[in-house]
Amino acid sequence: MIYLDNAATSWPKPEGVYRAMDEFARTAAGNPGRSGHRMAVEAENRVQRCREAIARILHAESPDQVILTLNATDALNIALKGILKAGDHVITSCTEHNSINRPLWAMAQAGMITFDKAETAPDGTVPASAVQALLRKNTRLIALTHCSNVLGVVNPVEEISKVARAHGALTLIDASQSVGVVPLDVRALGLDLVAFPGHKNLFGPMGTGALYVRRGLELRAWREGGTGFRADEEVHPEELPFHLEGGTPNAHGFAGLAAGVEFVEREGLAKILKHEHGLALRFVEGIRDNKRVTVYSARNPERQLGPVSINVKGAEPAEIGKIMDQTYGIACRPGLHCAPGTHRFLGTFPWGTVRFSFGYFNTPEHADAAVRAVNEVSAKFGSDGPSC
Ligand SMILES: Cc1ncc(COP(=O)(O)O)c(C=O)c1O
Repeated sequence: MIYLDNAATSWPKPEGVYRAMDEFARTAAGNPGRSGHRMAVEAENRVQRCREAIARILHAESPDQVILTLNATDALNIALKGILKAGDHVITSCTEHNSINRPLWAMAQAGMITFDKAETAPDGTVPASAVQALLRKNTRLIALTHCSNVLGVVNPVEEISKVARAHGALTLIDASQSVGVVPLDVRALGLDLVAFPGHKNLFGPMGTGALYVRRGLELRAWREGGTGFRADEEVHPEELPFHLEGGTPNAHGFAGLAAGVEFVEREGLAKILKHEHGLALRFVEGIRDNKRVTVYSARNPERQLGPVSINVKGAEPAEIGKIMDQTYGIACRPGLHCAPGTHRFLGTFPWGTVRFSFGYFNTPEHADAAVRAVNEVSAKFGSDGPSC
C-alpha cells in the first residue's frame, strides 16, 4: 500500500511513537495527576512532556496555555463555544472544514451569533482584504483555516491576524494541516487561539489534539469535573490547562504524541516542509499536461503543502478512489473531505475531488507511482469533457 491519505491522518508514525505508547501502556499507565504513587506521577510526567513539546513548537508563553484535546474538532468546539458571547459576529471563510462550519452554524441557528464568509481568491487563499471587507462593529472573532485540507494552499494568517488586531477582534486558526510542517510562532503571528489534531503532521495517534489559548484570554469551560487537584471545592478550577480539561485524559495517546512532536523537532520544520512541498509539486508536474485530468491545487505553488486535489474528467472521484486502492494499492481520499464550501468554490460539489496527500514518510517513488496510476487510469476511464 502506498499511503497518500496523510491529510486524513498520518501513517506510518515514527518508530519512537509506537515504542513510547507500548512502553507507557506496560509500565506507566496510572491515572495522571490523580494519585501519588509512582505510576500516576510518571503518567503525569508523560502528559506534561507532551504539553511542553507542543508549547515549544508553537512558541507559546507556557505549557499551561496548551489544552490537550481529543482531536481538532474538539479543540475548535472548545474555542468557539468558550469564547463567543451572545451578539458576537464572526468572520470565517468559504473554504473551511465542517469542524468550523458546523459549530458556527449551530450557534447562529440558536440565535446566539451571526457570521459571514470571506471570499476566496482564485488561487484558493483567503486574502486579508476579504476579511477586512466584512468587519463589523461587533466582529469578535476571525475563525479560519491555516491550510486548506482540499487544496493544500496556505492562507496569509499573519496579515489576517493584523487586520483582526487592528479592529480589536480575536483570531482563531485551524492549523490541522499546517502544524508540524509550517513554522507557527503564535506570538510572532499574533494568534489568540490555535486548534489542531495530534494525529496528522505531529504523528501522534488518533484521539489526540490540542488548543493553544493566548495568556490572558478567558474561555468558558463546556465541561466541569475531576482534574486531580483542589478536589475539595465545588467550583471547577479556573486555571489553565485544567479549566478546559475535565476528566481523565488520553494519556496513552499523549505519550505517543509527545514522541511525535519530539520527532518533528529533531527533523526540523524546514526539512519537513521542503519534503512535502517537493512531493506535492512533483506529483502535479507529472500530471499537469494530461488533458484528461484537472488539477485544482498548486495554483500558487509557493504556498503548496502535501494535499493535492485532482479529478479525472468524466469519471466520478469515488470511482477513481476505488481503482487507486484496488488496482494500484494507492490510498487516497475521494469526495468532499468534510469541506463542502471548498468544493462549491472549485465547482466540484457534490462529487468532490480525489485528494492525494503527501506526508513526511512518502518518497519521490510514491509520487511517481501516483503519477503513473493517474495517467493510466485517465487514459482508460477519463474523457476530454468537463470534470464530473
Ligand atoms: C482543516 C481541518 N480542520 C479540521 C479537521 C478535523 O480534524 P479531526 O478529525 O482531528 O477533528 C481536519 C481533518 O481532516 C482538517 O483537515
